[in-house]
Amino acid sequence: MSVQSPGGGSRGKGPTLSLCRFFSNLLGVKTELLSADASSLQKAMELLHSGEVVAVPTETVYGLAAVGLNPNAVKKVFSAKGRPSTDPLILHLPSADLKQAVHMGILPEKVPAEAFRLASAFWPGPLTMVLHRGPKVPDEVTAGLDPVALRYPAHPVAQQLLAMVGLPLAAPSANRFGRISPTDAASVMHELGGRIPLVLDGGECTTGVESTVVSLVSSEPTILRPGMITSADIERVLGRAPQQKTKTLTPDQSMPAPGMLESHYAPQTPLFLTDQPISDIQPDMQFIHYHPPKSPLSSNQFVLSPQGDSATAARNLYRLLRQADARQGKAILMEPIPDSDEAPALRDRVQRASVGRATWSHGTWVLIRKNID
Ligand code: TXA
Ligand code: MG
Repeated sequence: MSVQSPGGGSRGKGPTLSLCRFFSNLLGVKTELLSADASSLQKAMELLHSGEVVAVPTETVYGLAAVGLNPNAVKKVFSAKGRPSTDPLILHLPSADLKQAVHMGILPEKVPAEAFRLASAFWPGPLTMVLHRGPKVPDEVTAGLDPVALRYPAHPVAQQLLAMVGLPLAAPSANRFGRISPTDAASVMHELGGRIPLVLDGGECTTGVESTVVSLVSSEPTILRPGMITSADIERVLGRAPQQKTKTLTPDQSMPAPGMLESHYAPQTPLFLTDQPISDIQPDMQFIHYHPPKSPLSSNQFVLSPQGDSATAARNLYRLLRQADARQGKAILMEPIPDSDEAPALRDRVQRASVGRATWSHGTWVLIRKNID
């Protein structure tokens, strides 16, 4: 079924999306929002084969896809997002079979045994592996680096499209550079309406934060970006704990290790992280609690995890940040993320989204901006 009105096929509400359509038209590219079915998938496949970009749901976040072997199509991904070409893209494979990736020239003949073990444990799913690249991967995908990042997503719409296209799709998150990754089609329209021809609506993403990125190019497996497949999960499969890459870089530094920008995934309203659970509410700010507070919620309070589990917190994180952002208060304050195996993934995202910390002192919230130097 075709949904020409963006409000129809998604959870988004009319006014925001009418505004998106207004800006879409203003920018000149008409962005269609279609619920994913046989005919819209066919249309997406044709657009991709003709060198266009299409936004596609995955289980983590929506991606902005282009055929990953077509350098000109890949360049369109960078320009639609406003992303620097120094930040490499993940190739989404048409199957979980790494041998097929070798046949396609995506991987070289020799693939480490640990890659096969991780693929069979976690694919399809939210794990990206960084491996030495094969001869067919263009420089545009890897930003000229030797290794390439690969994953096979679990979302049925992404899988169907990949199978139909029969080629790897390069797909970063479908947001403008530096902003919050979209977890539903309405948010993609908000980010990229007017810049891309088609958004496939496959509902709300179930994981909610981007995949874990693990590099297997050196002797020690290394987590470059934490995600919901945790260090402990990887250790269980490999029999050794992966190293953690923690260093962040500022935008004006060169990028030897991609994806390490200090500020990323940010809302427009400044986000401050509190050093304690929030019990004091001010009307001019938005408050994101982890657990439900004891007193009834007012309209400027949000709860990440009603049951206290981290999977729900991850699923809600970007949606609540967007909702809090849309209220255009003075600031958004968020409670600390409690310890769990998944906490590194959540803390990584909220740290990058935040501009500083907040502390309650003498009857008011004191907001302290961090130095990004
Ligand atoms: O869940 C996800 O991974 C989503 C969905 C759409 O698949 N994609 C995503 O892509 O988050 P993106 O481009 O927003 O983030 C990809 C991350 C970046 O931090 C990038 O620097 C890193 O992966 N990356 C990509 N290629 C790499 C490479 N060759 N070496 C090291 N890091 C790489
Ligand atoms: Mg991204």
